[in-house]
Amino acid sequence: MGSQHSACIGLRERERNAYGTTIRGTRRTSVTDKSGRAIPCLMRRFESRVVLITGGSSGIGFATAKAFLEEGAQVAITGRDQERLATAVASLTKTGHAIGIRGDVSRAGDAKRFVARTERELGPIDVLVNNAGIYLQKSTEALDEREWDLVLDINLKGTFLCTKHVLPGMIRRRRGNIVNVASDSGLVATPLSSAYCASKGGMVLFTRVVAVDHAKDGIRVNAICPGEVETPMLERDAEASGLGYDEYYRRLVEPFPLKRAATPDEIAKAILFLASDDSSYMTGAAMSVDGGWTAL
Ligand SMILES: NC(=O)c1ccc[n+]([C@@H]2O[C@H](COP(=O)([O-])OP(=O)(O)OC[C@H]3O[C@@H](n4cnc5c(N)ncnc54)[C@H](OP(=O)(O)O)[C@@H]3O)[C@@H](O)[C@H]2O)c1
Repeated sequence: MGSQHSACIGLRERERNAYGTTIRGTRRTSVTDKSGRAIPCLMRRFESRVVLITGGSSGIGFATAKAFLEEGAQVAITGRDQERLATAVASLTKTGHAIGIRGDVSRAGDAKRFVARTERELGPIDVLVNNAGIYLQKSTEALDEREWDLVLDINLKGTFLCTKHVLPGMIRRRRGNIVNVASDSGLVATPLSSAYCASKGGMVLFTRVVAVDHAKDGIRVNAICPGEVETPMLERDAEASGLGYDEYYRRLVEPFPLKRAATPDEIAKAILFLASDDSSYMTGAAMSVDGGWTAL
């Protein structure tokens, strides 16, 4: 496998020489050996890239961190709970170089520190994934101001703060990629979820504005809109529903054309697509990965 990987890297070197330019992350699915046989290349689109993922200690963020590490990146993850963060980092370290930074995305000082520490310990940030988020189901009249602020502060303000602090370096380097983990609830209404929908809808438009503002700086910004994903967030929702998990899940996925929730790995793959050169002509997009939910 090692020699196959070197062959793929060798191909990249030849491309650089041929075109006199650096084609970062160029991917070939196979190379041919001396006898003309196709040998599959390892896909390592993020070799030596630096990736900051907020909320990487669980669910989608954790799966995304692992997927980036598998493709050669160095990864910083954040989270508020120290124990969960340490457990996640210990597990990720088996795959590659990962660090954990404790803090709350909704606090300006913490967001600034996530960026500064990642750049100090790993190097300039190539990719920011704004993933940290919480869900709250409640009717609008029952929501109190504190709950509204909490959801908006973490999901939307946290995305703004981390983006604000990562942008100056990306603008200076004229290169960068930001993926915002929004939701299908940012595109269509989810009943009893006005704060969550407002936060995710806000993320979608925030994505579009930053994408338009910074296209000239070589920075692409896209949002991903998952439907239901099998993470601890879904488990908490099942618990709150008072139904057993199996019954909750059956009712949940019934209206989905694909009749199931996504795995965190499926969402991670879509995030890596947006963060890679494979999506080089995409910016300002809100990409649904929702089993057909918003197509209905
Ligand atoms: N699961 C779904 O069905 C689904 C569907 C659509 C969109 N999404 C979105 O996907 C993202 C990830 O969700 P998930 O399902 O993977 O949830 P999860 O398993 O609950 O993970 C959430 C992560 O965010 C972190 N986090 C939460 N609040 C934070 C804060 N204030 N500051 C820093 N980190 C914080 C959590 O760690 P700590 O709690 O330790 O801080 C954890 O690492 C969210 O934005 C969510 O809205 C999820």
